[in-house]
Amino acid sequence: MIDIHAHILPGLDDGAKDWQETLDMCAIARNDGIHTIVATPHVKQGIYTPAKDLILSKVAELNTLLTPDTSRLSLHALKVFPGADIAFEADILNQIEKGTAVYLANPMISTNFMNPGRSFRYVLLELSDYFLFPQVKDLIRKLREKNIVPVLSHPERIAMIQRNHKLLHEFIQAGALSQVTALSITGEFGKEIKKLTRTLIKKNLVQVIATDAHSRDLRPPILSRAVLEVADLIGSEKAELMVQGIPQAIIDGKEVDIT
Ligand SMILES: [Fe+2]
Repeated sequence: MIDIHAHILPGLDDGAKDWQETLDMCAIARNDGIHTIVATPHVKQGIYTPAKDLILSKVAELNTLLTPDTSRLSLHALKVFPGADIAFEADILNQIEKGTAVYLANPMISTNFMNPGRSFRYVLLELSDYFLFPQVKDLIRKLREKNIVPVLSHPERIAMIQRNHKLLHEFIQAGALSQVTALSITGEFGKEIKKLTRTLIKKNLVQVIATDAHSRDLRPPILSRAVLEVADLIGSEKAELMVQGIPQAIIDGKEVDIT
């Protein structure tokens, strides 16, 4: 399985506290059957502002720690790519044009140029209730005009969608993808969120399941329990697509068919 949303890099946000917790989280993920993680620290103006080069260098350091010579617990079978969990802000387009935004599976060398071999670039965006529906939809369209696909993180935990999940349908129609959190499916965020998440999945408004892991204990990188529940709901083939086929297409910069 592939996890495209995890706060496993140490000391950049409210995720892993240090390298030991990072490695413990990697071990939990590997034992759960996850072979690829996109490390996505928060990027939020005035709160978390890790520079792109810092994210890239921490991912390079982590991959070094996971090499066969140094790693324990077969962690060398785990691959980590750079990414970011970017707060949905008005100047996101600006950040992308300046080349300061980190894509999902961003190349390890910081560059402004299109990645060769990739038709699309994906960014993980966390919606905010400070933005209104038309602003969000407009920004999704503008990103798509540049072949940049926003992946909306945990819509089930966003008040705007909780009030009216049809808005998510419109965002997807405008060209976004949606990613729900594994713990929302398994109920750790409460009954209401679990119910809404199941509704979104049944209505075909979810393309990806990710862990949004923040720690080794309270929010660990575990996907398998959620996949089992989703398989019961919509079948194992579709459930597996959400943690394998679609995340792989995102990493490879290929188009995701949402029909
Ligand atoms: Fe996150």
